[in-house]
Amino acid sequence: FLFKTRRIFCFKTMQEQDFTYEGIQFTTNVYSPESLRYAHYEFNVLDDDIFNVTYPKSGTNWMIEILNLIKHKGDVTLSSAEPIYERSPWVETLPFKDKMNALTHPRIISSHLPVHIFPKSFFKSKAKVIYTVRNPKDVFISNYYFTKMLQGFKKPESFQEHLQNFLEGNVAYASWFDHIQEWMKMKDDDRFFFVTYEELLQDLRGSVVKICKFLRQDLDSEAIDSVVKHSTFKAMAENKMSNWSTMSSEVLDHTKGSFLRKGIII
Ligand code: A3P
Repeated sequence: FLFKTRRIFCFKTMQEQDFTYEGIQFTTNVYSPESLRYAHYEFNVLDDDIFNVTYPKSGTNWMIEILNLIKHKGDVTLSSAEPIYERSPWVETLPFKDKMNALTHPRIISSHLPVHIFPKSFFKSKAKVIYTVRNPKDVFISNYYFTKMLQGFKKPESFQEHLQNFLEGNVAYASWFDHIQEWMKMKDDDRFFFVTYEELLQDLRGSVVKICKFLRQDLDSEAIDSVVKHSTFKAMAENKMSNWSTMSSEVLDHTKGSFLRKGIII
């Protein structure tokens, strides 16, 4: 249904503060043409970098939590002290250049970029990508409620209007369908690990073990238990460094909802 319907709609509703970069619409409060060009052409990817790539609302922050806990062998010092959005910043955003210098190695870097504007140097490196995909129905619902919290973004008039925008790719990072199709072309590359949000939900421990194997991180059973314990929905919702409650109300209107809203498969 979703694959067929999206082709029907074809108009754009850009706002004044938006700009496009290689066909993708961005807002000037988080990105600039320079920040996009930097990520695309100048950012120097290192062989031990780990990229956490998603289409928005697919579990990006969940993977940030998991990957940082794995990196620190289940130790929660970092995740109890540093807001989640600082731990693995988004390569394409304005503050990335400053935040990058504070990252320890291996760097865990987030991104929602589609393949065609992903850092060029990644493709010549040995860096790895973990790509989390979530079913589009839940991505859409999550996105709908998140948009209500986001300050400075045009709010959809109705659920129907937002669905229409989502299906035609007239939302942040454009079409879910194109994003998945582009990234899935990398599925046989040994630097690429594909996981679904649904798998994480159904078998978090099993997924953590597979991610450790992919990253060649040798964690003992106790460390894995700690990664799992601290990356459940409940643990993250209760951790103010992981639930985005520390984000300025100029960016997120906390009276309109919670970042960790439901965390379920509908
Ligand atoms: P919902 O809005 O459906 O609750 P992203 O980080 O890409 O913006 O994705 C946000 C979505 O991931 C939200 O979905 C959020 O609740 C969910 N999420 C974050 N951490 C989670 C966890 N530990 N378990 C399950 N879902 C989680």
